[in-house]
Amino acid sequence: MAVEIIRVGIVGIGTYAPERILTNFDLQQTLDTSDEWIYSRSGIRERRIVAENEATSDQALVASQRALEDAGVRPGEVDLIITATNTPDMLFPATACLLQDRLGATRAGAFDLLAGCTGFIYGVIVGAQFISAGTADTVLVTGAETMSRVINWKDRNTCVLFGDGAGAVVLRRVPDDRGILSSMLGSDGSGGKFLNMPAGGSRQPASSETLAQELNYLHMNGREVFKFAVRAMEDGASEVLRRAGLTKADVDFLVPHQANIRIIEHAAKRLKLPMERVAVNVDRYGNTSTASVPLALDEALQSGKIKDGDNVILVGFGAGLTWAGLLIKWYDAKKQG
Ligand code: UT7
Repeated sequence: MAVEIIRVGIVGIGTYAPERILTNFDLQQTLDTSDEWIYSRSGIRERRIVAENEATSDQALVASQRALEDAGVRPGEVDLIITATNTPDMLFPATACLLQDRLGATRAGAFDLLAGCTGFIYGVIVGAQFISAGTADTVLVTGAETMSRVINWKDRNTCVLFGDGAGAVVLRRVPDDRGILSSMLGSDGSGGKFLNMPAGGSRQPASSETLAQELNYLHMNGREVFKFAVRAMEDGASEVLRRAGLTKADVDFLVPHQANIRIIEHAAKRLKLPMERVAVNVDRYGNTSTASVPLALDEALQSGKIKDGDNVILVGFGAGLTWAGLLIKWYDAKKQG
């Protein structure tokens, strides 16, 4: 019996970045740091910061509305909403449910997905499974983050690296010669201690003591995460190529998680890709966690760097520790009419 393969692709994308720009020079005013240190160690020059009344679902809403419009899909047609975030509006209910309501996606199931900065790629892989299995036609995946609310603005080791933003994509079935060719998910919980927020959960509920010890903020061992990231990017990219039966020479474009330009350049070098074929916007947004890959992908699409039929790799890593890769033969819905 022939098994029908349902290919899934990204048929619409939308992003949102808060208006307020915080530069390295601004940070120099309040912190023992410098533009020179931040830029040379991370490639970051500035990042976006939400307004006082903005939270994660507000950012996700705008990105989602733009993605649905780009795909020509009405909210009522969405079967499933997956919101990848580390900074939900609140611990529960899921931010995806808040988004479902505000979008008016009346038919959609909705859940949050927690996989560190890798969450967006995890979300696309999970969402695509529903379509491949025939249990959903239209899936909305968002990566939305308000990192400015969970970083310790007194900790120069971390606060200079992160920013706020959101991205969303619409997944649907695409022609058989396009769409997701392969994917991989990785995790290594033994490294969970290198990037975490110790308090605010069931182990150490928020209390005046945890606040005094600054445990309700993001904590990171930058050097350990760096070492892991370099390995993870390489593994994610090579594994999806292996699973699709392709080689490095077949890769047209790379969209890596935007955490540090040195990690991105290392991944590009391993794939033997010139930087013109790598999405980079870490200089202008910093690390926006789950929003980084859709923000970078959207920019690459807007500037015409990704074309119909290109082999595009999305690869990322983050808290968990987690990592993931996705190889997509790009489907340009507009070009195809
Ligand atoms: O999405 C996943 C999230 N995380 C990441 O991807 C982070 C991965 N790691 C990194 O990107 C890099 O490790 C960092 C950018 C965090 C740090 O770069 P590094 O080259 O690994 O620097 P380092 O940790 O070795 O720190 C060097 C020095 C330290 O001083 P001492 O101990 O050598 O005297 C730090 O105290 O730089 C100091 N330092 C700073 N100095 C000025 C740390 N942060 C700052 C700062 N400004 N903002």
